[in-house]
Amino acid sequence: MSFEVSADAYGQFMGRFARPLAVAFADLVGVTPGQSALDVGCGSGVLTDVLVDRLGADQVCAADPSPPFVAAVTDRHPTLDVRLAGAEDLPFPSDRFDLVLAQLVVLFMSDPVRGIAEMARCARPGGAVAASVWDHGGGTGPLSPFWDAVRAVDPDGPDEMDLPGVHEGQLAELFAQAGLPDVSSSALTVRVAHPTFEEWWDPFTLGVGPAGAYVAGLDPDALAALKEQCRAQLPPAPFHTDATAWVAIARA
Ligand SMILES: C[S@@+](CC[C@H](N)C(=O)[O-])C[C@H]1O[C@@H](n2cnc3c(N)ncnc32)[C@H](O)[C@@H]1O
Repeated sequence: MSFEVSADAYGQFMGRFARPLAVAFADLVGVTPGQSALDVGCGSGVLTDVLVDRLGADQVCAADPSPPFVAAVTDRHPTLDVRLAGAEDLPFPSDRFDLVLAQLVVLFMSDPVRGIAEMARCARPGGAVAASVWDHGGGTGPLSPFWDAVRAVDPDGPDEMDLPGVHEGQLAELFAQAGLPDVSSSALTVRVAHPTFEEWWDPFTLGVGPAGAYVAGLDPDALAALKEQCRAQLPPAPFHTDATAWVAIARA
């Protein structure tokens, strides 16, 4: 539900962190011309763009359960095979792709083990299955300053620390449960510059993801208190965010 938002809102809120991660993730997985790839949970197409750039649109397929995201990716890449589907039931044949990737998606899957097993089914034997998830568990994800502020003003409020895969080692455990035991685990860190506090804060008001859903449910006083808590906890502008993601890579 919190991803039934426009691709533009997603881009402002998360795209700014996801874009540099997509380049680093593709480098780490070893995306090279001649390969075919499936982008699972493609969202607004941040990783899809990198895959199309490196492999060509005829070598890339994508899937996401959010209709506005699928529409946005289709608009940008009219010849691309983009399906409205979740990871748990991928509408692609078995043994089809050299690479099956999911960036920032496993934590939102309703059944992560089934979703990863489906990713493996779609990879050719020996093909790469890879996922990345922000380190919400260790407190070094891009949204960690926001959730720290939520804890300060609303100790009983939500966070993203209990979502699957957000703690070190959890992605590898999920891969093993999905039948992919030989997992290479690593971490990637990207740096994002914030010229002003408002540039950092305003996208939280766009309703994207669990953080946006939380902000959208606050009354004006609670919203103002949270905003000021964030401002007090962050360095003076301009500042930067160093955001770390866990990565798991296995062979199908
Ligand atoms: C944080 S976004 C990541 C989008 C994109 N991969 C990126 O790196 O920007 C999470 C995405 O997961 C999608 N999603 C949610 N549940 C899913 C599921 N069960 N299977 C696949 N994707 C799912 C959402 O619609 C959303 O596009």
